[in-house]
Amino acid sequence: MNAARGLLGEYMIAGKKIVIGALVPTDFVPLYGWFNDVAAVRLDGIFRPVNLASHLQWCQNIGNDPTKVMFAIRRCGDAAIIGYLNISSINGVHRSADIGIRIGEEENRNQGFGKEALRLGLDYCWKHLNLERVALTVFSKNARAIHVYRAAGFKKEGTLRRYCFVDGEWIDTVIMAAFRPSPRKIRKSAAGAVHAAAGQDAMTIAV
Ligand SMILES: CC(C)(COP(=O)(O)OP(=O)(O)OC[C@H]1O[C@@H](n2cnc3c(N)ncnc32)[C@H](O)[C@@H]1OP(=O)(O)O)[C@@H](O)C(=O)NCCC(=O)NCCS
Repeated sequence: MNAARGLLGEYMIAGKKIVIGALVPTDFVPLYGWFNDVAAVRLDGIFRPVNLASHLQWCQNIGNDPTKVMFAIRRCGDAAIIGYLNISSINGVHRSADIGIRIGEEENRNQGFGKEALRLGLDYCWKHLNLERVALTVFSKNARAIHVYRAAGFKKEGTLRRYCFVDGEWIDTVIMAAFRPSPRKIRKSAAGAVHAAAGQDAMTIAV
């Protein structure tokens, strides 16, 4: 797995187009906008406006919860946040967790950022969290997200019919999961990351 340094000196996990790493205070405002984006929230949950005070409190506390890991997604060599990857419900007994992702602005979607971020996030789940199973739920009508999840290695496990009521309609929700690959595949994915990141960024170093 490769790492890069952010503007504040923090280490980030580097891919070919994007890096994933810690949130910094300048991310809090774009995140506030995305959490209040009705159109995007409609794709993955119930919309409730988030007020600024509780949002900032959430941002301050996110690193203190051992069951969660939140990554900012950035383009290689660019400090601006373009999305986030959220690992939650990390369970040390079952070695399982849930994962979620959002690319904040439509203009940044469909450029391969989401797929790459998800691959880096899953790699992190196997290598750093030592997980066996990573799951997600997605609305059955969210064809783009399902396509991306399949491409990242998630397989459909079932459909929860009329599971959510969102914006005036009942929504079927699909459960998908990815499982820990063989040790050989995990090693191979590391080699791929080294290759992909080589020469991308002068501050990229192997860890
Ligand atoms: C879902 C999301 C994370 C994907 O990230 P992204 O950066 O846009 O995705 P990528 O660019 O890596 O890949 C998009 C893929 O979907 C395909 N795609 C685009 N629109 C599609 C559609 N309507 N149906 C099926 N596939 C579609 C693209 O062709 C591309 O696949 P390809 O690389 O095989 O050609 C991002 O679009 C997003 O945040 N959307 C809004 C919120 C959301 O839906 N979140 C998920 C909630 S569970």
